[in-house]
This record gives sequence, C-alpha cells and structure tokens, in this order.
Amino acid sequence: MKVTIDNIEIEVETGTTIMNAARKVGGEIVPPAMCYYTSLKGSGGKCRACLVKVSQGSTADPRPMPKLVASCCTTVQEGMVVKNITSPEVLETRKGIVEFLLINHPLDCPICDQAGECDLQNFAFDHGRQQTRYDFERRTFDVINIGEDIKLHMTRCILCYRCTMVADQLTDGREHGILWRGDKSEISTYIQKAVENDFSGNMIDVCPVGALTDKHFRFRNRVWFLNPMNAHRDCPKCSGKVVLWMRGEEIYRVTGRKDQYNELKEFICNDCRFENYDSKNWLVEGPREIENESVINANHYEEGTKALPKELFSKLNNEKWDNF
Ligand code: SF4
Ligand code: FES
Repeated sequence: MKVTIDNIEIEVETGTTIMNAARKVGGEIVPPAMCYYTSLKGSGGKCRACLVKVSQGSTADPRPMPKLVASCCTTVQEGMVVKNITSPEVLETRKGIVEFLLINHPLDCPICDQAGECDLQNFAFDHGRQQTRYDFERRTFDVINIGEDIKLHMTRCILCYRCTMVADQLTDGREHGILWRGDKSEISTYIQKAVENDFSGNMIDVCPVGALTDKHFRFRNRVWFLNPMNAHRDCPKCSGKVVLWMRGEEIYRVTGRKDQYNELKEFICNDCRFENYDSKNWLVEGPREIENESVINANHYEEGTKALPKELFSKLNNEKWDNF
C-alpha cells in the first residue's frame, strides 16, 4: 500500500500501522511512543504520545479523519495521507499529552536512576511545555518492593501497561497488574505477592520511566558515567546477549540490548541480569554504539571514559537511600 507521511511517500504491507510505516523511513517523522512496544502483543493505545493527523483517509475515501489518531494502532490504507511533524495541531496536542503524563509524575530526574535514558524525560524535553496548569493535589505512593530485584515508584508510573504485558506474555503465572480504574489506577502485585520469575527483570527494561528500578543498581551510578559494552555468555534460559554497564572492570548493571526506539531486541533472563556481575563470566564483544544525541554519549565527548570518584558512589549507595 502507498501511504504518504509528512510528504514522504512509502510502500508498506497491508496491515502495517502508521507508526511502523513511519519507522520504515526513520528520523524525525517517527511519532514518539510511550506505551507501544513491538515485541509485546497488544501494546499501544494507552499514552496518546503518538497521535497524528490523517488528512486523507484513503484513495477510495479521501475524507480526513475527524480526530487525531493513535499511529501505533491505526493501520494504513491505500492512498492515506498522514501528517506528523508537518501538522501544527499534532505538535500542539503533543504538548498537552506531555502535560497530562506529567500531572502526577514527580520531577525527580536528579535522583531517578532512569535519568538519561528515560522516554518521558526525552518526550518532555522535545515536546513539553515549561509549565503545568494543574493545581490539584498530586497522587502520592510509598515506594514498594516487588520481589527481590525490583522496586516500584508508583508516583513515576504513567500506566503504559508494558510491564503487565511482560508479566502476561513472558513469565509463568502473572503476579502483578493494574488495580482500580481511572485516576485511581495503580500497579500492584496481587496479595503482596513478589514478582519472582525468570524473566521478570525485563519489566525494568520496558518501563519507559523510572517507576520500576533495578534494586542492585539503584543510586550506584549515573548511566552517562558508565561504558555500555555488548557481551554474551552461554545461557540455558535466554540468548545471553546483553549490555554490560561498566566502569573499568566493574559491572554496575546488566540490561538487554535495545534498538533505536528504546525497545529490547531480545528479552533476557534474571540469571544474566542479576546474578552475573563478574566480568569473567562474560565474553565482551566491544563498546556499544550509542546515538550521538543521547545523554549517555555526552560524557564520552567531554571526559572520555573518566570515572567519578568511587567513594562518592559508595556514599550514595548507603542503606538510608534504600527507602527513597
Ligand atoms: S510501572 Fe513502568 S512499565 Fe509498568 S505501567 Fe507503569 S510506566 Fe508502564
Ligand atoms: S505509543 Fe501509541 S498510544 Fe502510546
């Protein structure tokens, strides 16, 4: 099918969404996504970050669609004309979406482990307003442990549902989900059950914000001071292909490998993620390529791989931070 996005005509297969058609071209015309995740079935349609304008529905029916549509779950039609960055209406609406997502989200980037690789931080930076018009009381929650390896900051959650889909689609026996409805919605484990299964750590990687954090990595370092290295090991549970976040010989955290849209290419098991912090257990392939404009890359231009004093981080890693 032929579809035109921001004046660029492309051909895609029947059934392709506008989002994936735009991703075929790449660059600025790709709408932002906070909830869609290629490898999670049924994801998308929750955050509205990806709204676009369809100014011509199809060749057969050239009428424009009356409202902006979510590009991650709207399929293209023959002759469809879509406007993303060429539509002032879309850009204005996106500002409103950022404002909406930030209604309850605290601005705690300076102490959030996700800072520097947070989709919401990037989204707000690229599309947000500087102020909010929201005067009502914000929702607050205590930080809770969900299992041995993961901590949940519900205040940061944007209810994208990605983590519940990981629980549903990747692990045996779903143990957590979204309780309640509307502005009362929250992530919770059922009856205080911990999330402990072989692939639960992937929830941390799919979370677009810092709501689900790795308890082994919390407050130990900032991502832009670490060197991401591709590495692998023989693993009986997963592909064993990971990214080691290192300073010198020390491994600070292990994550899956993400693509340019911040999505995992392969899900990795908890053994690889949480049980192998010794560099001898890995075959290091080499430094990982990081997009030039990424915050993670910034340090590499100015300081090379120079590290911050170790004492500073052991101080930050003090027990008292545990409940923060
Ligand atoms: S905890 Fe993270 S992944 Fe789960 S719904 Fe909230 S924002 Fe999405
Ligand atoms: S990415 Fe499309 S609605 Fe969230």
